[in-house]
Amino acid sequence: MFKLLVFSYLLLAAGQGSWAFNHGQDLIDFNAYVETFNKTYPTTSARSFANYYFIYNRNQVAQQNALADRNRTTYREAVNQFSDIRLIQFAALLPRAVNTLTSHASTPPATQASSTTFDMITDFGLTVNVEDQGVNCSSSWAYAVAKSVEIFNAIQAANAAPASLSAQQLIDCAGMGTGCSTQVPQAALDILTQYSDSYLYPEVDYPNNNTWKSQGMCQPPPSVGVGVRLTNYSTIADGDDVSLMRYVSSGFPVVVEYNPATFGFMQYSSGVYVQDTSALTNPKSSQFLVVVGFDHDADTNLDYWRCLNSFGTTWGENGYIRIVRRDNQPLAKNAIFPSVIA
Ligand SMILES: *[C@@H]1O[C@H](CO)[C@@H](O)[C@H](O)[C@H]1NC(C)=O
Ligand SMILES: *[C@@H]1O[C@H](CO)[C@@H](O)[C@H](O)[C@H]1NC(C)=O
Ligand SMILES: *[C@@H]1O[C@H](CO)[C@@H](O)[C@H](O)[C@H]1NC(C)=O
Ligand SMILES: *[C@@H]1O[C@H](CO)[C@@H](O)[C@H](O)[C@H]1NC(C)=O
Ligand SMILES: *[C@@H]1O[C@H](CO)[C@@H](O)[C@H](O)[C@H]1NC(C)=O
Repeated sequence: MFKLLVFSYLLLAAGQGSWAFNHGQDLIDFNAYVETFNKTYPTTSARSFANYYFIYNRNQVAQQNALADRNRTTYREAVNQFSDIRLIQFAALLPRAVNTLTSHASTPPATQASSTTFDMITDFGLTVNVEDQGVNCSSSWAYAVAKSVEIFNAIQAANAAPASLSAQQLIDCAGMGTGCSTQVPQAALDILTQYSDSYLYPEVDYPNNNTWKSQGMCQPPPSVGVGVRLTNYSTIADGDDVSLMRYVSSGFPVVVEYNPATFGFMQYSSGVYVQDTSALTNPKSSQFLVVVGFDHDADTNLDYWRCLNSFGTTWGENGYIRIVRRDNQPLAKNAIFPSVIA
């Protein structure tokens, strides 16, 4: 009898003929989401799909956070700019970089900072703007390089409030045909270091707009001598987290490639993120992050790396993510960093 009742209720619900999620509190929540994140949808159908995936993703966030409440997981999630698309679409927005990294290794500093904790942003009191690459251009390769040069230069020059440097200049000048899809940080670092008159301009002179249209978009310098002149960069072998730590603790912000294609990363909001082991093998997506520090988290009893992303400040811990630091999940992957400023 009970089964029959449930069954007829389902029939009734289906019989309404419209989107079953498209009403009540769910709809109110979705409308609020649309307003908060300034979403626009080209068609009613696109809006209905967005509504559907928003409810799905929001429930996924709730499940993750219920686990966090019971200390059964080490990180939390939140609804963000990606919560109206499927995970598979998110993964497709950030296609795997075509990385043919040419090794440019140097000998890591022999000693590392005596402390077991270091953070180049907070320890030096740097004010660094968190950038937002938007949802239409997979440009983390450019953002990560611009931020690493900006942070490195700030540390070298003891400037606690550096001007934001232009990722757009790198997208336009180093992107080639793949600036919004599969380009890599090394392309940007090569452009910056190969020519003696090459400067990375401040964002005010070369604004970020996250578009890439065609080759030849590279704009002329706003004026002579503006910006940062990088003269060399270096790489770290995959899996070599010992060297990664030595460089980071010596004030080198290192860019690493990471697989973003998980619910946990897409909607990460706080805590120490531990990647599903399934996401560690054969990733189909890439996001480049800047490693800025490391520490131990007492709440979760985990060591972590702290990394800057380019999904804006509503994502993660004000734009940063803490990723578990452990030997069997090394972070160093296609790791590369600016090493000499003129
Ligand atoms: C939405 O737009 C408003 C007004 O332009 C802006 O203040 C706000 O930061 C935007 N929100 C997001 C998440 O982009
Ligand atoms: C640049 O860095 C690479 C790798 O760290 C090193 O092998 C090379 O000698 C450096 N070049 C110059 C001109 O210093
Ligand atoms: C991003 O792409 C989507 C789909 O192609 C389009 O509808 C939207 O207007 C684009 N948004 C921006 C900010 O360019
Ligand atoms: C983006 O910036 C580039 C370089 O400044 C410029 O050429 C292009 O027109 C801009 N695109 C948009 C949509 O504003
Ligand atoms: C949560 O779990 C971790 C790992 O098992 C443990 O070290 C920590 O003490 C727990 N925290 C609380 C508040 O129970």
